[in-house]
Amino acid sequence: MSENSPRGSWTPEMVEKGGYPHFMLKEIHEQPKVLKNALSLRTEVCHQAAGILNDSAQVYITAAGTSNHAGLAARYMFTKLSAVRAQNIISSEFPQLTGELLDENDVVLAISQSGETADTINAVKHAKRQGVKVVSLTNVIDSTMSKLSDYTIYTYAGPEYGLAATKTFLVQVACLSLLSLELALMRGSLSSKEVNKLRDGLMKTPLIVDMTIKKQDRVVRDIAYRYANKSSFLFLGCGISTATAMEGALKLKETAYLHAEAYPAGESRHGPIALIEPGFPVFIIAPPDENYDKLVKNLKEIKAHKAKIISVVQENDSKVRGLSDHSISIPETETIFSPIPYVIPLQLFAYFVAFKRGYNPDKPRYLVKAITEP
Ligand code: BG6
Repeated sequence: MSENSPRGSWTPEMVEKGGYPHFMLKEIHEQPKVLKNALSLRTEVCHQAAGILNDSAQVYITAAGTSNHAGLAARYMFTKLSAVRAQNIISSEFPQLTGELLDENDVVLAISQSGETADTINAVKHAKRQGVKVVSLTNVIDSTMSKLSDYTIYTYAGPEYGLAATKTFLVQVACLSLLSLELALMRGSLSSKEVNKLRDGLMKTPLIVDMTIKKQDRVVRDIAYRYANKSSFLFLGCGISTATAMEGALKLKETAYLHAEAYPAGESRHGPIALIEPGFPVFIIAPPDENYDKLVKNLKEIKAHKAKIISVVQENDSKVRGLSDHSISIPETETIFSPIPYVIPLQLFAYFVAFKRGYNPDKPRYLVKAITEP
């Protein structure tokens, strides 16, 4: 362990944190275990929730912050796997954007780690007033959100003490993945053989996350220390990786107070590319899915302006790696579930940049774990 390593010295508080200097790092390292736990969600629970969603004309996914990013990933999975019509509406805008136009055939899927975020609770109340059914996904039993909902799925991730949500994102995406597969079976959008194959892939994600943390922790730390003095970052992804990119940018804002923007890669040419100047750091989230070639095209455009490219790629990748200044490798995974392992380096990056800049990532300024006041 080097001197400037966040794991270089022990204090009594660290014992409480299981030997880690911060809860954020502890919770990042706990993820293989909590993910495995989340994936043991009872089929009956998924089946009940899927039944409510399946009966709807339109699913509205509403949430705030990290939970909203898990909701974005869910929409991609609902579209691609389950043939479910869904749209995301950030909870603080939900009443404004839906007005009185909700229908009792619609269903709201509300996501909140705490189950107490005022914006999400307001969105749920707004929906309930119009006779809309609500399925919620939360970590807290008997939370306000679960009490207001027609049906609740619990993530059972244990308390999250770090302010910046880490394990929350993984367990939410895991439960939403299971829900998508259950919906796919129910609606016949995938055969049971296809669902079983995907489910097998999903069940391997705890191991993949574990391997990623163990193998890439040092790699990510070195990259983070190198870029910790930069003031602005861009995160690009395509399809479901847009959700991963958004979560990576949010982590960096929350913990390191750095300007970080996330965009769907295709949108980068419609404005954000003007930000690029030599040395500007750009994260590219590039699992080998159906969007890969499109992403490579956008990456080349960014690279032409001499950006510094930090990519998150599959282990055997050569194309994106060849265009990158730094690459972080992820073992092969079912690409539709890529947000689960691909977000890990982004969480670690935010943590190590915050540490290097001298901030406490567990207690970022101005932020609280759940904003309960309207
Ligand atoms: C914000 C926190 O206030 O609430 C975020 O700063 C969090 O980290 C967001 O993701 C949503 O919280 P919850 O509990 O509704 O998932």
